[in-house]
Amino acid sequence: MRKKVGIVGAGNVGATLALFAVNSGLADVVLYDIVEGMPQGKALDILQNTAVLGIEASITGTNSLDDLAGSDIVVITAGLARKPGMRRKDLLMANADIVGGIVNKLAPQCPQAIYIVVTNPMDVMAYLTLALSGVDRKRVIGMGGILDSSRFKTFISMELGVSPRDIETLVLGGHGLYMVPLVRFTTVKGIPLSKWLSQEKIEALVQRTREGGAEIVSLLKTGSAYYAPAQSTFEMIKAIILDEKRLLPCSVYLDGEYGVKDVFNGVPVVLGKQGVEKIVEVELTDEERAAFANSTEEVKSMIQILREEGKI
Ligand code: NAI
Ligand code: 2OP
Repeated sequence: MRKKVGIVGAGNVGATLALFAVNSGLADVVLYDIVEGMPQGKALDILQNTAVLGIEASITGTNSLDDLAGSDIVVITAGLARKPGMRRKDLLMANADIVGGIVNKLAPQCPQAIYIVVTNPMDVMAYLTLALSGVDRKRVIGMGGILDSSRFKTFISMELGVSPRDIETLVLGGHGLYMVPLVRFTTVKGIPLSKWLSQEKIEALVQRTREGGAEIVSLLKTGSAYYAPAQSTFEMIKAIILDEKRLLPCSVYLDGEYGVKDVFNGVPVVLGKQGVEKIVEVELTDEERAAFANSTEEVKSMIQILREEGKI
């Protein structure tokens, strides 16, 4: 039985995700945007691609949020994307208004939905989504860690000339400059990264990962990355729809886990049909714990701004 996936925002990430989701055959997608005609046009185009492939899954484009009623999964990608020189933080106020308006309208219409939040600053937007929707914390998940891990894997793979399939890694913390790539848990076919590369080289790859989003922004000139972000989001959708119990780094509401409370941050979680089915706590070194705390403070300071501005 296909699930109903509502995608809010039919821009680069939203439309690419719609294509991946429909082509997987796992979901019927409703693609929403405020720009008139655009989601309808992209949906029709995606529908015609299913005719080439012979896929039954459907997609509808709309300018009415009402069409997302009853969604099993709602993905929020609406908002402004970062421009060159623009920090994630600059997006805060504008995107809080967009995401807040959407969640207020959708929550009563989608009582069963699991929300996946992509819009930046993602950890903060996920917090806002949880606060305004009032759903159980299991049902609001921010996408960031899978993308950040994929970037770290890519750079390691490029450096070593080894398939990314054979690389395991874990990136914790907020989706931002304070992310915490855990080198200690990074292995190539089970062999620690430190046996493959010098400390100096590893540091350089970690730094490139931290700036992975900005690197693409400066190359594209307009807009930010969307293929890997859409694929990372689809990985989460698939884990939920197929109840895969995947262990994936996602941003979730922490209530004492990792020593922090009342904040969203990236940690390893088990994703299944109920959403976040388990938060996995790995023991961190003092240095990793301090980096994680720093990352948490960055997210908390933005949540505080939203509170002061009366958005929460
Ligand atoms: P985009 O500009 O291509 O698409 C955004 C879409 O949102 C546009 O089509 C726009 O019309 C729509 N929109 C704006 N206000 C709206 C509203 N009130 N209701 C419905 N739709 C509305 O941007 P892109 O590349 O798709 O990125 C979307 C967001 O995702 C940005 O905030 C970006 O920073 C974030 N992002 C987050 C990632 C992560 O790892 N968490 C990765 C990549 C992007
Ligand atoms: C990225 O990391 C912009 O957050 C987005 O590419």
